[in-house]
Amino acid sequence: MAHLFDEFRLKDVTLKNRIAVSPMCQYSAEDGVPNEWHRVHLGARAIGGAGLVIAEATAVAPEGRITPGCTGLWNDAQAEAFAPIAAFIKRYAVPGIQIAHAGRKASANRPWEGDDHMREDDPRAWQPIGPSAVAFGANLPRVPAAMTKADIARVREDFVSAAKRSLAAGFEWLELHFAHGYLGQSFFSPIANKRTDEYGGSFENRIRFLTETLSAVRSVWPEKYPLTARLGVSDFTPESQPLEESIALVRRFKSLGLDLIDVSVGFNTPDVSGMPWGPAFMAPFAERIRREAEIPTAVGWFVSEPAQAQAIVESGQADLVMLARAELGDPNWTYHAAQALGRPEAHAALPPQYAHWLRR
Ligand SMILES: Cc1cc2nc3c(=O)[nH]c(=O)nc-3n(C[C@H](O)[C@H](O)[C@H](O)COP(=O)(O)O)c2cc1C
Repeated sequence: MAHLFDEFRLKDVTLKNRIAVSPMCQYSAEDGVPNEWHRVHLGARAIGGAGLVIAEATAVAPEGRITPGCTGLWNDAQAEAFAPIAAFIKRYAVPGIQIAHAGRKASANRPWEGDDHMREDDPRAWQPIGPSAVAFGANLPRVPAAMTKADIARVREDFVSAAKRSLAAGFEWLELHFAHGYLGQSFFSPIANKRTDEYGGSFENRIRFLTETLSAVRSVWPEKYPLTARLGVSDFTPESQPLEESIALVRRFKSLGLDLIDVSVGFNTPDVSGMPWGPAFMAPFAERIRREAEIPTAVGWFVSEPAQAQAIVESGQADLVMLARAELGDPNWTYHAAQALGRPEAHAALPPQYAHWLRR
């Protein structure tokens, strides 16, 4: 039985424990370039003992940012700014990054400045794109421009370029963002994708953008480093793709070289009334996917207690536990979890500058 504090090896990368800092947008970049904020935010969580620290949803193209404050990897200056951040994380943890395109949810205000689409006459705003000219609705009412096949090919190549820059910046774990209603997810979702060409309609057509992107990225991302994806496996509405389709997609991803699936929710619709909210509510879905698709899984959502995280790993629901808000509240969550779970080497979760003084 695995323990939260066991190592986890995937390809040539070994995490010192099963705790991952989930990607968290900081909305604090300028022109997509990360800065001291990102270095301190990610660095503090690496020092805090997690085995894997994944940098936020980083846009593969300017129009793929959620907000004007999102990080990007569409130019070399951005990669150069990420390099010292990845190097610092690597001293303590495995440095990972999530690359993303926000699709129809792009061009929004920061969450604490409205969390809604920017007005079209806002000089910072831009035209979002998506699989179809169908708006998300609610706080994000802008109708995206339906992507042409040339747009689809361009964005796929943007993912490839961003993957190359992730590598150049020193990241050793790459996650494709195919969740939360952003572009990849919205191609898969029958809620957002109403296309009638080979990128919409049937299961095979709705997965085409995702599988083509994954294959293209795999061809440039080294075999020795894990390539993962975060997938929204359901919207928990009748209009959502069935879970069985998500499992079939994960199987397909695996055959194309995916190493792990980060199991998350759809968010393709503002209607979240069917979501089975509750502590670790996605863990049973991760377990089913791990068993049926025979692939390592990571899972988060309302995991805050060490015993909960341990139970997820020990029962084989997931190989990794992804923590977001718990890590915001406590960058030393891993150290405190080691204490709570009675690991004698708890202090060793921290570097000597801290551990020496906390040894008991
Ligand atoms: C501030 C913040 C920013 C987030 N940004 C991202 C992101 O960049 N990419 C992503 O996949 N999820 C993002 N999420 C979702 C988290 O990664 C996580 O899946 C979600 O918060 C549930 O986990 P939790 O209950 O541990 O917070 C974000 C969450 C928060 C709180």
